Amino acid sequence: MCGIVGYVGGNNAKDYIIDGLKKLEYRGYDSAGIALQSENGIVVRKKEGKIANLEALIENEKLYGTTGIGHTRWATHGAPSDINAHPHMSQDESIAIVHNGIVENYMDLKKMLNEEYGIVFKTETDSEVIAQLISVLNKGDLEKAVYDAVAMMRGAYAFGVIAKDEPNKIIAYRKDAPLIAGLGKGCNFIASDIPALLKYLDEIYLIENDEMVICTPERVIIKDKDGRELKRKVLHVNWSLEDAEKDGYEHFMLKEIYEQPKAIKETLNRRIDENDNITLDGITLTKEQLEDFNKVYIVACGTAYHAGLVGKYVIEKMARIPVEVDIASEFRYRDPFVDDKTLFIAISQSGETLDTLAALREAKSKGARILSIVNVVGSSVARESDDVFYTWAGPEIAVASTKAYTTQLVCMYLIALYMGRLRETISEEYYRSILAELKAAPAKVEKILSRASDIESLAKMLYNRSNVFFIGRGLDSAVAYEGSLKLKEISYINSFAIAAGELKHGTIALMEPETIVISLATQDALFEKMVSNIVEVKARMAHVVSIAKEGNTKIEETSTETVYIPQCADEVSPLLSVVPLQLFSYYVAREKGEDIDKPRNLAKSVTVE
Ligand code: G6P
Repeated sequence: MCGIVGYVGGNNAKDYIIDGLKKLEYRGYDSAGIALQSENGIVVRKKEGKIANLEALIENEKLYGTTGIGHTRWATHGAPSDINAHPHMSQDESIAIVHNGIVENYMDLKKMLNEEYGIVFKTETDSEVIAQLISVLNKGDLEKAVYDAVAMMRGAYAFGVIAKDEPNKIIAYRKDAPLIAGLGKGCNFIASDIPALLKYLDEIYLIENDEMVICTPERVIIKDKDGRELKRKVLHVNWSLEDAEKDGYEHFMLKEIYEQPKAIKETLNRRIDENDNITLDGITLTKEQLEDFNKVYIVACGTAYHAGLVGKYVIEKMARIPVEVDIASEFRYRDPFVDDKTLFIAISQSGETLDTLAALREAKSKGARILSIVNVVGSSVARESDDVFYTWAGPEIAVASTKAYTTQLVCMYLIALYMGRLRETISEEYYRSILAELKAAPAKVEKILSRASDIESLAKMLYNRSNVFFIGRGLDSAVAYEGSLKLKEISYINSFAIAAGELKHGTIALMEPETIVISLATQDALFEKMVSNIVEVKARMAHVVSIAKEGNTKIEETSTETVYIPQCADEVSPLLSVVPLQLFSYYVAREKGEDIDKPRNLAKSVTVE
């Protein structure tokens, strides 16, 4: 949700910034811009649309400056347009800023700036107030002006500032939006996220809330909100550049789908010792504490929420403890039953989703113990949790989440098994059998991927339909929600997921000849019931594509097409059955010629409510 980058050093900042912005484009891509400190003051160039449009705009210009800031936007206040794009410059052109987040009291500030200082605003954004505010407060000390501005601002933000009168310096400030500083050789950086800087360095500082960063070519200084200098541990980033590049794949999404066997293995192997005991690294909960909880709340958004639906099923089944799953934006405002006997599990790939973060804080304030399942190390959700259980999926760049989902499932299984064993609600035999199933999952996912061309053919046949239904029972219904979300996110086809047994209570009215129904029938215990539901839609002439386990050929009698996944225990089938659905969405979107990695209106990391 908006990406910011800044460079200060000895070379042309423009090249580093454009390159960094391209790596952050997953955060938003409706407009982009750059501001450089040049010999003639601050120069700003910005353009609606993807970063390629900005590049085209400045292609024939000799822009040069050794200090600069850049931005890629996901619009909140004001439509995507050239004028609303960042950076924003102050009226006297002394200050330029880039901003990620929302200044909630921007209307009051605008009014005050207009009435007291005669500022005429050029844009419809909330962000412009930051530039105008800093410029009117700046009496020759940029640092002080930023502190004074922040004291007047409400909301969530990370912003970077350059000033005409203080060359070779970027100041940035963080409150509830991600910000890092990168330590280069003879140059330093600010950015929203690590991939922007991977090409240039492997040492970063994580910036905390209410902290200021002052970057010059020689130093990065971090200060607290009262101006006291802080010591920060350098974080060595062990991601490789290939992790953040497409590596020969046509899209990040396809690359990430294919990385799943490795990611699942990595997330799993780090937690299982040679005697098949699960070690929950990052979790300091004692046996007594785990036994003491009387309720689990799983809270997340989007794909992570769908991983939570699977989590509910497996934790309830294995650990025999009631689990509620909630959408983060709903949880927060409905006075949920949470106390110190509640284990609150937040799931988030980015660890920066504001809804999830706000729900986490709400639960924390009510005394719950916070355990998070997060992919991005050091992210806000991770830092504000009591315990963090990382998914080791590596950077996920495509907006549509794939490997983060499957590794979130692995974490759910490990937690459920661990708790079940501790609470003695599962037998040793069951524990070992599910663990063996999990260990076998990467090879089974490989097998599904080796048959991707079958799914591609299916997509070629069905890509121009306008309505798709996903149905399933039990764990399959949880996967149906994720399959449906994947399809709508990247192909823009209207899709709808529903528990198969519920179809007949209304939704079946929508079935028409040739309506596509993707039916998940991987649960042995519910197979016959599921077949009945498939027959119901088949009788209305729907085109049924079933996902079933190898050997269950009976399904072919009632389906138009069948896609098989390897045999597995019912409990772990989501890890496998989601893969053909991911591939299906991918190939449908490709067939339609959509921008798969950057679908319209979406952003990977949503840091607004
Ligand atoms: C956005 C993304 C979704 C993602 C959701 C939660 O809406 O477009 O793909 O599932 O945020 O993100 P998180 O980083 O918290 O998992």
